[in-house]
Amino acid sequence: MTTQIPVTMESLVVGRSARMKAVFEFLRVVGNSESTVLITGESGTGKEVTATLIHQSSRRKHHPFVAVSCALFSETLIESELFGHERGAFTDARQQKRGLLETADGGTVFLDEIGEMAPPLQAKLLRFLEEKTFKRVGGVVDIRVDVRVIAATNRTLEEEVKRGRFREDLYYRLNVLPIQLPPLRTRPDDIPALVHSFVDAYNREFRKRVGGVSGDAMRRLKTYGWPGNIRELRNAVERAMLLVEGDELTAEHFPVASTAGSRLTEAVDLPATGIDLEELERSLVVQALERSAWNQTRAATLLGLNRDQIRYRIEKFKLEKPAAT
Ligand SMILES: Nc1ncnc2c1ncn2[C@@H]1O[C@H](COP(=O)(O)OP(=O)(O)OP(=O)(O)O)[C@@H](O)[C@H]1O
Ligand SMILES: [Mg+2]
Repeated sequence: MTTQIPVTMESLVVGRSARMKAVFEFLRVVGNSESTVLITGESGTGKEVTATLIHQSSRRKHHPFVAVSCALFSETLIESELFGHERGAFTDARQQKRGLLETADGGTVFLDEIGEMAPPLQAKLLRFLEEKTFKRVGGVVDIRVDVRVIAATNRTLEEEVKRGRFREDLYYRLNVLPIQLPPLRTRPDDIPALVHSFVDAYNREFRKRVGGVSGDAMRRLKTYGWPGNIRELRNAVERAMLLVEGDELTAEHFPVASTAGSRLTEAVDLPATGIDLEELERSLVVQALERSAWNQTRAATLLGLNRDQIRYRIEKFKLEKPAAT
């Protein structure tokens, strides 16, 4: 259940967009602190990567980093995984077992998908966070460990609290240092750096010598919406790197990104497979902004919109002008 630090970790530091710079700035603060961290973000935005990075930049880095997903197992299994159990605590408990909290002593425990945690366990976790002690399942002795907790979720925990599915007190206890990872579609100017780092990584892995990505392909990658975020981008690059025979990745190696981003002017007829209209609209707005160097009036003209209409869309899609580099 422990996690290896991904090779591409260094690319985390390449984020150029204003939003990612703010995240990195915050990570520096977080690394030096001992407080609980709550990482939120859509699937594939790098929550686990961020958790490992925090661990690596903390004084705990020479101690274990242990990751547990709260969604994968039954409530009882997670409880005994986390807290351990005494012999005879339940039918299968023939031996006493130390929990992951004990294994991680001195280090960090990453509680992934915390939003899925069952209420009784939430109570036990809260007690642990407040008192730093817990009892093994079926145990009577308080065990004390020195563990930092980092939690992550792709749900909106405030919503879960409102619906009564997540304890409010635990939410506040976890949310001491909140980190929100922005979706990739809101920071297209991070895409080239990520793509290049993945190309480097797959060059090494596949023993290829791809030098770069064509301008056309990169434009498409930057305007595609990436619902699966960095994970999807990485998979797309991996696939392209498998397909490529020359030394450059071109648009044809990225079929995903080309469905929404290309042939827009000709494809006036609805394709038999249908389209994602929101995605198409977003892609066109991004392209217009890029082509006009983020002059909103000119971009609006390219789309036949007025300024209010383009502003509305910039807000709707949470688009941001890339930071000057
Ligand atoms: N900043 C980054 N630089 C390089 N690679 C990254 C970065 N962030 C994420 N990745 C890669 O993207 C993939 C997804 O990252 P990760 O597993 O951390 O996301 P997640 O938010 O935990 O996703 P999920 O919600 O699906 O669990 C991994 O392959 C990871 O290596
Ligand atoms: Mg994850």
